[in-house]
Amino acid sequence: MSSCHLPLNLPASTGSPPYVCCPPAATYEPRLFRPNSSSSPRMRRAAHSVDEAYAAKLAQAYALMKALPPDDPRSFIQQANIHCAYCNTVYNQMGSSELFQIHNTWLFFPFHRWYIYFHERILAKLLGEDGDDPAFFLSFWNYDHPDGASIPWLFSAAPASSSRPHYPVLSNASRDSSHDSATATVALDFNGGDTDCRRRSIQLRENDNTMYRVLIRDATTPESFFGWPYRQGDSPMEGYGFGTVEYCPHNTVHSWVGNKSAMGWRDMGAFFSSGLDPLFYAHHAQIDRLWELWKAMPNHEEIDDEDYKNAEFLFYNEEGELVRVRAGDASDASLLGYVYEEVETPWKDAIPEQRSFAPAELGDGDAICEVGKVMEAKPCSVRVERDPEVSRASPWLHDHLVLSIDYQSQMMVDVYLNLPAANATTDSGCKEFVTNIGHSHVASTPLDVKLDISERLVDLNLDISERLVDLNLTNESRIVVTLVPRIPLPYSSFQNLTILDAYIECALPFQRWDGAHTLF
Ligand code: C2O
Repeated sequence: MSSCHLPLNLPASTGSPPYVCCPPAATYEPRLFRPNSSSSPRMRRAAHSVDEAYAAKLAQAYALMKALPPDDPRSFIQQANIHCAYCNTVYNQMGSSELFQIHNTWLFFPFHRWYIYFHERILAKLLGEDGDDPAFFLSFWNYDHPDGASIPWLFSAAPASSSRPHYPVLSNASRDSSHDSATATVALDFNGGDTDCRRRSIQLRENDNTMYRVLIRDATTPESFFGWPYRQGDSPMEGYGFGTVEYCPHNTVHSWVGNKSAMGWRDMGAFFSSGLDPLFYAHHAQIDRLWELWKAMPNHEEIDDEDYKNAEFLFYNEEGELVRVRAGDASDASLLGYVYEEVETPWKDAIPEQRSFAPAELGDGDAICEVGKVMEAKPCSVRVERDPEVSRASPWLHDHLVLSIDYQSQMMVDVYLNLPAANATTDSGCKEFVTNIGHSHVASTPLDVKLDISERLVDLNLDISERLVDLNLTNESRIVVTLVPRIPLPYSSFQNLTILDAYIECALPFQRWDGAHTLF
């Protein structure tokens, strides 16, 4: 706490006073709080299906929180500032001069679980319920289900029907207004652009594909699900190191909700401001629920590493007392006293199909990506070499497709293996689809500068081992990679993007996006 300084990587706000998000200071050593709830658990319910009595209660709780004086650590602004503090690196790590940033690392899940845990306890307390009263709960934004795939009515500026009450205290003026309606379908693969033109049925299918990919297909190990290890002395992993869910749907939903015309895509689209939107806490209850869903699947284990388990965060609790909590103590949600309502998960059946059945060759009709040249606004393919013997001899290493890319401000590209015919309308629910890559946000630069040329270089390491197995390509020494550019808003055409290199290397099974700078 004593290291707290001004936030870094803020979108520039030239002319306005510095944005301070240090919490009120405490004069005592915080005790360690360890969860041990034994009362019957609160059930966090899907936001779209709560009743009006609950919505009114939630609105009342936020009204009380917003009415607290701004220096009360339980006030809404201080609650929002917690996010700025842990995300815009206002703290140094204990015993190190390195900055502390919990995103893009394995601390992403436990930090946010603790964050919304205290947030929920504070709201309950403000309603006059004591800590063991199971009546008050946070609701989750159930966007993985078709019925929950719009901003939930109670948080929306534009409620679904006039028969439903509207709660200004739960809505937020700094959202993308075209997305804040009951008819807009959330794009879990959003990257700022062309998903807005999709029909609802197509978007819902893409959402299922995304969910299947991030929770089942690509999240087979704790490392891939939780993200890159982050230990004392490591510098912040800006823009890489995230687990599957953190990248998508977590980051993408932040961007989808935020106002892309506002400074840094605020509120939901920027670290410093996202906690200012009450929808943030429903989004994070959903992310927290996805952790529970992942954990309930066979052979899925928590991270078992002392550096993970002993990492600590500071929070003010519902009494306004500063406490320390450990990341490892977040593993068991039942000790924190809540469970999630069980709802259908249709995406579990979105098992990808195989399109191509033989190793692809590049023929005369196929556009070849020219390495070192600006990419055209149409799909192109490149052939990369690998040594199947090396892969076989070192099963603990995975095949990584490394794409070294130079791009301007924004880029969005879908990556396929062994499918040179892929284009922008190809359904991503096929085995050939690797991932969508996109950087819609660039930290440290204000939106108006971001729209100018600011070149970025990124090395994407995409773990494709499982894809090679699925496509029966493990014995091949040449793999066809197809890149499908998509048009990011606010542009009307594809922006300059140059592939500098594309190759396969064997590496530990983590994804890395070195050199990328993203806010969300
Ligand atoms: Cu700390 Cu949704 O991010």
